Amino acid sequence: MASVYACRAFMARSMRRPASTPCMVARLPKAGSTTSPSPLQPRASWSRAASSSSSSGKKGGNHHKPLPYRAGSPTQQHPSSSPQATAAASESIFPKQPSTVTPEPVSQLFRTRWLGLFGAGAAALCLGTFTASFWIANRDEAPRYVTGCEPSVPTGRPAIESPVDFDRHLDKSEWRFGITKLRRRLAAEATGHVLEVAMGTGRNMEFYDWDAVTAEYVTAGERNRTKLAKRGWGTKGSIADLQEMESFTGVDISPAMLDIGLRRLRQVVPHGAMEDALPKQPNFEQLAAQSQAGSGVHLLRGKVRVVQGDAAQSPLPAPPRGVDKYDTVIQTFGLCSVRDPTRLIHNMAAAVKPETGRIILLEHGRSWWELVNGLLDRSAKGHFERFGCWWNRNIEDIVEVAQSQIPGLEVVEFQRPGWTTLGTHVWVELRVRDVKPTGGQDSGHDESRSGWLGSLGSSWLTVSAPENREKKG
Ligand SMILES: C[S@@+](CC[C@H](N)C(=O)[O-])C[C@H]1O[C@@H](n2cnc3c(N)ncnc32)[C@H](O)[C@@H]1O
Repeated sequence: MASVYACRAFMARSMRRPASTPCMVARLPKAGSTTSPSPLQPRASWSRAASSSSSSGKKGGNHHKPLPYRAGSPTQQHPSSSPQATAAASESIFPKQPSTVTPEPVSQLFRTRWLGLFGAGAAALCLGTFTASFWIANRDEAPRYVTGCEPSVPTGRPAIESPVDFDRHLDKSEWRFGITKLRRRLAAEATGHVLEVAMGTGRNMEFYDWDAVTAEYVTAGERNRTKLAKRGWGTKGSIADLQEMESFTGVDISPAMLDIGLRRLRQVVPHGAMEDALPKQPNFEQLAAQSQAGSGVHLLRGKVRVVQGDAAQSPLPAPPRGVDKYDTVIQTFGLCSVRDPTRLIHNMAAAVKPETGRIILLEHGRSWWELVNGLLDRSAKGHFERFGCWWNRNIEDIVEVAQSQIPGLEVVEFQRPGWTTLGTHVWVELRVRDVKPTGGQDSGHDESRSGWLGSLGSSWLTVSAPENREKKG
């Protein structure tokens, strides 16, 4: 070590630089040496050696005399004074002392390792959230009510916020959780004479295809062209091949929700078809009172109707004149919002065309993860107070009970779409088989007709009916 120190001091003198100058240390091996691969390596070793010499010069194993420095011939230096040898020597004494390595500033650290830091942060956040949720969900028993016997009657209408605030709130959250996408998909299925039950503020309206309903506002040729272009069919095909929405009827119990529903209708129906018929701030009750056509607001010569009514406790509005039953019945987030959801399914089954008609439901309720259900149960009362619906109902059970009561009711599809909603949202398609009631008590619950099995495999979140699952397990 002493030799190292002496050698370094000598060189510092001869080059008229301070001995501790890192530049000096770093430059040494450049003098023709081929042994040093990187200037950083000798710099660190030399510095370490230098700093260690003062305190442990006597301890080192190398006690060679320093050789005179000869510029340009570092190979002739004493073996122990070569950077590698020095590094080895110094590290054998102080193996883990990176004393001269300047620590990276925090800002630099963030710049160079942001991806790793971000990943670690996200992982910690997920783990924290999961642990906290698990703890909250299992702290104590959450209240769980029998469907329809909850402490307050669901209305589906916002209890704390106004319908306007409610609607605005949903704008953000629905997009985030993929509900908007599901609404679009659902509305694309609405063909023929369409009934929307518990339509609320009309959040599905912008996704319906209004072309046939507003056909009088455009020429047939123009409609054909735009429609075919929209479908990517070019000039081939004909709109006659397309199934379109021929009429729309919406029903809801709340006039305040329907006010917003009408406003939305005015905005989304194309060709300004609603602009003359509806004011900018429509009031459902006023307009319904002025209507000549009976209950509700009738527009476009009855092709569009908005009606107020209790969809669970009284029959649903009849289809437009000349039509026997509806082709499509749509219902989104209503089973959570009525006192008797099974009754609502009874009414929908009675309103849809047997065999060919479709009932499509988009709902939220219990997940298949008990952890999530614990959270739903715990927050159900707060959610009810804010939004007027019980979001911890078991939709699967409700559908199953309805299926057991309604002759010919078949579950065509039952999916839990998307992962962002943690299995709480369900997409259900039902149809009614044209079964003639027999003399006895036909529950309509015939497994050979059940559509549950048919739905298996249609989605990674598709589930089978509870009774099928039990039998299989
Ligand atoms: C959560 S909102 C859903 C509204 C709309 N379907 C949607 O997807 O945004 C529930 C709706 O059900 C309506 N509702 C509650 N009970 C009803 C009943 N018995 N008959 C008809 N509508 C009802 C409420 O007024 C409310 O507009």
